[in-house]
Formats: sequence, structure tokens, C-alpha cells
Amino acid sequence: MKKLFKSTVLLLSILCMSQHIHAQETKILVLIHSDNGGTYTLAQEVAKGIESTGKVKADIKLVKSSSNSSLKDIPVATVEELTTYNGIAFGSPIYFGNISTAMSEFLSKTVDLWSNHALEGMPATVFMSAGSGAGKELAIQSFWNSLAVHGMILVPSGIMGNESIDKTVPQGNTVLGTTSLASLKNVERPTKSERYLAKIQGQNLSKIALALKGTYQSSLITKGDNQEKNIDEVLKEKKIELPTVPQPAGSYEPYVRTGNLIFINQVALKNGKIVNPGKLGVDINEKQVNEATRATILNVLSVLKDAVGGDLNQVKKCVQLTGIFNTKADYTQHADLMNVASNLLVEIFGDKGKHARATYGASSIPVNSSVEIQAIFEVE
Ligand SMILES: Cc1cc2nc3c(=O)[nH]c(=O)nc-3n(C[C@H](O)[C@H](O)[C@H](O)COP(=O)(O)O)c2cc1C
Repeated sequence: MKKLFKSTVLLLSILCMSQHIHAQETKILVLIHSDNGGTYTLAQEVAKGIESTGKVKADIKLVKSSSNSSLKDIPVATVEELTTYNGIAFGSPIYFGNISTAMSEFLSKTVDLWSNHALEGMPATVFMSAGSGAGKELAIQSFWNSLAVHGMILVPSGIMGNESIDKTVPQGNTVLGTTSLASLKNVERPTKSERYLAKIQGQNLSKIALALKGTYQSSLITKGDNQEKNIDEVLKEKKIELPTVPQPAGSYEPYVRTGNLIFINQVALKNGKIVNPGKLGVDINEKQVNEATRATILNVLSVLKDAVGGDLNQVKKCVQLTGIFNTKADYTQHADLMNVASNLLVEIFGDKGKHARATYGASSIPVNSSVEIQAIFEVE
């Protein structure tokens, strides 16, 4: 009997824990553009409402970085990460009865998500910062058009909370979503009532996101993400040509694959010659080392391509780069030299190209190259 009781308690704790973990994982993105901070203030209330259910985390992110001091520390969202959320609250200023250009530009980058049905069935709501409020419903409605094309579940406000708002001053309430009438000077905006409406709008989205969680497919996302970053197309767009695979100059392999890791070491060899050979500060300058570094990392990529049977889309991650430079003993700017290689990998592979790194100086490098790069990649 005691044993049965113990097992039941254990089972219940596991169930509670797993429910807790499950609940903790629910996340809503509050995705905004704001020029003067009005939309951001509403966003903060929406986020409070989302988190008021105690089961959902809200992340406020911008569609575009801002130099406004109250906005500059807010992270910028990527298109790909939209699919990792359980709901999105969109916020934008109203410009001429419509959404802002920055928000519109961000939405125009979601074509791959759309063609992969990646946001279908995900709940979304819209709030906006207005001036006079001219065309406020039209603006939210035009926002809804794009979200409807994505197949998102549009969550309106209806007349939620209207009985509690201060009716002695104009308020930005609409049945589609909250707005704030920022240009009506005699009252601080957003008003207490507008903030209240924004908060309950967030709370409502939170409840719907919890109810809909797991009812729509997010597995299509990965497919879309991969399709979005076809590495051959990236190389073509950026006019990056990979050299022919350099042949080993000694008793070693151009690469070694062990499990899903590929190890590669290269120097600045191009068309059978070393690009800008010698020691930095003695024979060559930093610009020449930069050219040699670019040639070296392109050699690394060419070997990598060979190692994955010609399909660079199989690269899952650049794990580590080590850059060795032929420098004088008192040289200290190795990191700047190595950025040429690091930046190129991120330019080509995006987040997958970000890596751990070591750089150091050497008194000499084989075949008088000014640089050697050692690289480790994880592949499919
Ligand atoms: C070019 C322009 C057009 C605007 N059009 C409208 C409009 O049609 N309706 C409205 O209510 N406010 C309009 N506004 C005012 C903005 O919506 C308002 O300033 C808003 O609060 C800005 O949001 P933010 O503080 O998040 O940047 C417009 C402002 C600008 C600069």
C-alpha cells in the first residue's frame, strides 16, 4: 500500500513537472516597429498581459534596429525565428492608414515561410500606435490581410474591456485590436485605458496560444529554413567562386571526416602559388594578409564542398576556426586579420557559419604562407 502511494506521488510529480516544462516552453513573440516609442509602450503592456497567464513567456523584438535611445537595446527578430513561437502579437505605428514601411519590408521577407505554410494555424493579434487615430481600423485590417494570407488565426479584441475604460477622453479602442491616439495632447499616451486594453489583448492571445499549442505543424519550418539558404545560390549572388581543391603537399589528407565532423587545414595557395607570401610587417602589409586570408578560407570551403559530395547545404555548423599568422613577436591584431575569414563564413552560412575561434602568431608557416587556417565543420 505504502509502495503504491509512493509510486502514485512520483507519477503525479512527474506529470506536474512535465506539465510545468510544457507550459514554460510556450512563447509568444511581440514583434514591433516603433519610431518614437509609442508602439513599444503598448508592446510592453501586451507582453505583461501575455505573461499574466503565468504559463507563457513574451519576447519583445524589433523588425529593424533602432537608434532611438529607448529602443536601441531591443533585439531584432529574424524571419526564421517566427516559426519557433506559439503566437505573434504584431505592433506598428499607423502611417497613412496603413502599416509602417519597416513592418511591411519585414513581412515581404516571409515569402518562404508562406510557401512552406510555416505560420498556418498560429494565432496572431495586431495593435498599433496612431496619431489622431485616422484610419486606425483600416490600418489594422490591412495588417490582417498579410496575416490572413499566411493562414494565421487572427485574434480580434471585440469589445473586450470596453466597460472599464475612461469614456471622458477619446481612446484608441477598436474591435480589431488596441491602438493609442498619441497626438491628442492633453492626455498622456498611451492612456491608462489604452494600456489596459493592450494588456488584456495580450492576455487573450496568451490563452488562445495555449489552447492552440500543438494543433498546427511547425515541422515544415525546417524545410523552409533550409530552402531559404541554398548555399549555391548564396555563392552565386555574392559572386564568390570557389577555387579548385588544392592537392596535399605532403603526407596527409585534404580533409578527414569522423562521424559528422570534418577537419580541414589550408594555407594561401591559389593557382599553384602562395598569395602574398612572407611575414606581416616585414615582407607584406595587413591588406596583403587580408587577401591571403580570403584565399585561404576559400580553399577551406572548396575542400569542404568536396568532403560533402558537392552539396554545401549539408553543412550544419562551422564549429571552430583557428587562424595562424606569420607575424613579428610584438604583433597583437591577429583577431582583426582573422575576421576576414570569420565574416565570410557568416556571410555565406548565416547563423550556421558562426563559430568558436582561436588566433595566434607564428614565426614561420609552411611554404612561406602568411596565414594558415584550421577548420572544423559539423555536417549532415
Ligand atoms: C508619415 C506619417 C503618417 C502618419 N499617418 C497617420 C495616420 O494615418 N493615422 C494616424 O492616426 N496617425 C498617423 N501618423 C502618426 C503616427 O501613427 C504616430 O506618431 C505613432 O504614434 C508613431 O508610433 P511610434 O511612436 O511607435 O513611432 C502618421 C505619422 C507620420 C510620420
